[in-house]
Formats: sequence, C-alpha cells, structure tokens
Amino acid sequence: MGNLDGKIALITGAGGMKGIGRATALKLAKQGADIVLSDVQRKPENLPPQEVQARWRSIDSVAEEVEALGRRCLKIWCDLTATGQIEAMARQAADHFGHIDILVNNARAIIGRDRVPITELSEEVWRHFLEINTTAVFLVTKFVGQIMVRQGRGGRIINIASDASKRAKPMTAAYTSSKFAVLGLTQAAALDLAPHRITVNAVCPGTVNTDRLNYWEQAQARAQGVAPEAFRAQVIANSAKATPLGRVAESEDVANLVAFLASDEANFITAQAYNVNGGVLSH
Ligand SMILES: NC(=O)c1ccc[n+]([C@@H]2O[C@H](COP(=O)([O-])OP(=O)(O)OC[C@H]3O[C@@H](n4cnc5c(N)ncnc54)[C@H](O)[C@@H]3O)[C@@H](O)[C@H]2O)c1
Repeated sequence: MGNLDGKIALITGAGGMKGIGRATALKLAKQGADIVLSDVQRKPENLPPQEVQARWRSIDSVAEEVEALGRRCLKIWCDLTATGQIEAMARQAADHFGHIDILVNNARAIIGRDRVPITELSEEVWRHFLEINTTAVFLVTKFVGQIMVRQGRGGRIINIASDASKRAKPMTAAYTSSKFAVLGLTQAAALDLAPHRITVNAVCPGTVNTDRLNYWEQAQARAQGVAPEAFRAQVIANSAKATPLGRVAESEDVANLVAFLASDEANFITAQAYNVNGGVLSH
C-alpha cells in the first residue's frame, strides 16, 4: 500500500527513456497512483539516438513498466501545440478514470535550435519554446484545473521548471524566458486554485542526466569532431565538478520531490519553487 493509493496522475512529456517524466510515472505508480501518460509522437530524427538503438517506444514502453508495477495506465498521444488536443486529453483522462488528482507539467520543447545568441535567435524558435514550455503549461493547468475544481476533491499541480527559471546562462534566451514564466504561472495559478484545495508548485532541477543533453550535444560534438558519447561524458563530468554534492541529478532525484509534493504530507505547501540541484543555486 502506498500513500497515493486511489489517486490518478497525469504526466505530460512522459515518453523519454531517461526522462524525468518516466521516472515520475514509475515513482508515483510505486506509491500507488494509477497513471495517465502523455507525449507527442515524434519523428525518428527528433529522438535521442539511444532511444532509437534500444527500440524504445515512448509512452508505450513506459506504460508496460507502469502496468508491471500493478497499476492501471492510460496512454494519450497529445501535441501540446494544439489547444484542442490538450482539452481532449484532459477530458479523456477524467472520463477514463473518473477523476484526476495529480498533474505533472513536464514536457518541454526540444533543446538545440535555441542555443544561439539572442541576435541570432529566430522568432519561430522563440515562439515554439514559449508555446510548449509556457503556454501549454497554462492550457493543461486550465483544462485539468477545471476538472479538479468540478470534482471538489482538491488536487496537486506540479510544474517541472528549471534552474533556468531563476538564473540565465548564455545562449538560452528562449528557454530561460519560457522557464521564468513558469514560476509566475505557478504562483498565480496557486492563488486562484487555493480556495479549491488545489496546490500548485514548481520543481527546479539543475543539470539532470537525461537524454536532453543530447540534442544540443550532437551538434556540438559534430562541430568539434568528437564522438557524441565522449562529448556527453565531458559535459556530465564538468557539471558534476561544478556541483557541491559532486554529481549531476538523476531523473529519480527529481521524481522523489514530485512524489512528496503530490502526497498528503505536502497539503499546506503551495506557490513554491523548489530546487533539485546538488547545491549549485540557493534561491
Ligand atoms: N534534463 C535536464 O537537465 C533538465 C534540467 C532542468 C529542467 N529540466 C526540465 O525537466 C522536464 C523534463 O525534461 P527531460 O530532460 O526529462 O526531457 P525529455 O526530452 O525526456 O522530456 C521532454 C518531453 O517533452 C515532449 N514534447 C516535446 N514537444 C512536445 C509537444 N509538442 N507536445 C507534447 N510533448 C512534447 C518530448 O517528446 C519529451 O518526451 C522539462 O520541463 C525540462 O525543461 C530538465
């Protein structure tokens, strides 16, 4: 028996083989929740090479793992740039399980084309990042929030933000702006939903050992003429060296905090943004 028995959790961007979404799905399932997994169907060229090699099948693969833990699982393919699909996802999840108790806004735009100085950043890339990292968080919160309010049984909304929500790095204007906005959205939504006992919090990871690094890494490795694996190992080693706790986060480190915020123990915590970064940033 877990402390999330009987709860239904919806997680966006949940299909990554090493992603925070998958780790969160498995953690919440182990604590007793049934899971709604959502992701977009990506073209092979947009997938991390490890996923292609491992014949990873996004939320289809994660669903098998959730079901192996004895929990029920619903898969919903949803492109978060399409408002109609977001509204349909919320409705389908609630119709299938009868209620939604936990929402984890985890999806984000694929890193890569945004890694340029602001003078070279295209308006299209800027808009794409804002659309997925910020506007979609608003829309999923709005439609799932409407369902939670109607249900009258409280709820938990957890937004996966970033250390980039609190401090910029060079060549991240689109990502940083989109993630700063998530903290404002978290606070505002928390105030609107507090009368309904729905808490809204953000989790801000530093560098996590996911495949996320690869989109950007591949281009860098190509430019420097080194193997992507070697380049990746160097990125991780450098981040670990710059981290007081001496390593980068694993997705499970982030999932552990999400599980706490989703639990009854966190019922007086709302409108907050917590770091999971090994001590790199303290505000
Ligand atoms: N990995 C890190 O180092 C790191 C650091 C700080 C914050 N984060 C945050 O953690 C969260 C998860 O990141 P991750 O590293 O696990 O990445 P990930 O790439 O595994 O997850 C992102 C997911 O978003 C999905 N997605 C992309 N476009 C979409 C669309 N149009 N519609 C629906 N889904 C779409 C992708 O398919 C993918 O599954 C993100 O919000 C990210 O900003 C990650």
